[in-house]
Amino acid sequence: MSTWRSRPGGVLRGVVRVPGDKSISHRSIMFAALADGTSTIRGFLEGEDTRATAAAFAAMGVRIESPEPGVRVVHGVGIDGLRAPGQDIDCGNAGTGMRLLAGVLAGQPFGSRLIGDASLSRRPMRRVTEPLGLMGARIDTASGAMPPLQVHGGRALQGIHYSTPMASAQVKSAVLLAGLFAEGETEVTEPQPTRDYTESMLQAFGWPIEYGPGWARLSGGHRLQARDIDVPADFSSAAFFLVAASICPGSDLTLRQVGLHPRRSGLLRALRLMGADIEVGASTDAGFGEVADVRVRYAPLRGIDVPQDVVPDMIDEFPSLFAAASVASGTTRVRGAEELRVKESDRIAGMASALRSVGAHVVEAPDGADIHGGALEGGEVDSLGDHRLAMSMVVAGQVASAPVKIRDCANVATSFPGFLAVAEQCGMRVDVLAD
Ligand code: S3P
Repeated sequence: MSTWRSRPGGVLRGVVRVPGDKSISHRSIMFAALADGTSTIRGFLEGEDTRATAAAFAAMGVRIESPEPGVRVVHGVGIDGLRAPGQDIDCGNAGTGMRLLAGVLAGQPFGSRLIGDASLSRRPMRRVTEPLGLMGARIDTASGAMPPLQVHGGRALQGIHYSTPMASAQVKSAVLLAGLFAEGETEVTEPQPTRDYTESMLQAFGWPIEYGPGWARLSGGHRLQARDIDVPADFSSAAFFLVAASICPGSDLTLRQVGLHPRRSGLLRALRLMGADIEVGASTDAGFGEVADVRVRYAPLRGIDVPQDVVPDMIDEFPSLFAAASVASGTTRVRGAEELRVKESDRIAGMASALRSVGAHVVEAPDGADIHGGALEGGEVDSLGDHRLAMSMVVAGQVASAPVKIRDCANVATSFPGFLAVAEQCGMRVDVLAD
């Protein structure tokens, strides 16, 4: 239970790089493990979530070496080479780990049990157990379709044509992953397009797949070939600094080589609509969307109605957007974001309550909030053990009139273990009060 104190007056300057993308790091391990041959992953996120996924595959017989931090050499066992884990698979805090693993494990000859921490154990799993069940999998859950997931082995899976009820890359990915082990064709369509890393990585590892925004189709019965992966810096980690530099007067910060995949970088669009001064440098594309340096300078922000179509493209960035909105002029209106209620915490209630504790005026709606911008004061808030709430309140504290204490920050290590060092390096004022 780490308590942090964010002190006002930060000015963000210089050039920093945030760690590797969490979504791509999880998937790199999974596809490399299931491939024939050896893959080297560079830029792997050394977070608790992604390390849990690596440990899961190690427990299923995959040799994974770590010659230096941020590098994994994965000796793939082939699509049919996983072995029974012999123990529960602990996904920690990671919804991505658990839901994607459920898809992989549904098609194995052996049974397995997926467990998680207190937050993950409260997250809805019916969204994956239902389509996987339709494919022929048998997965038992705790009451309310919550973890642990007991996945029965030896089930013959059938391909499925499935329309996801919510825009969720995790659900789409779980179904596509089970489709690798199924007889016939599996097709997923989505109400709004979500990140397509599962699709692009399957293609890169040589599995025949057709896909476009909002749909994907593949068949079982192929194999994956090893390949090396360079993981770009995580836009979702960069987001805290984009917002902090935008709201802290005098800031001029460059974030190095950030992944700007259009299904991930919706916050850029929202911040620009609010008046943010963000410049994107020359870009390259190594298969996960554009990667570029991003320069952000302080600019006064104004409230906006967040366009509905940008919501899935910034689904992980609402906590930091709420922080930005709380000090913008006017009101920011968020709607159509009910998925925020089932993330690592209820992020609508969590951010509304944390921001209110430091003087903000936030009115909740079932699927969003109205955030009335103004001045923030000091105070004490609870991150609810949610990494993105903790980091967003550090950002807000930089422009409060007095320090903001944030309880329960240890979970920042799930996605961004070096956050405090990067924050300090670029001029944010934050210290650790207790462990
Ligand atoms: C992720 C998908 C999103 C996102 C999560 C990572 C992924 O979840 O919030 O942080 O890697 O597929 P949903 O699919 O539940 O929206």
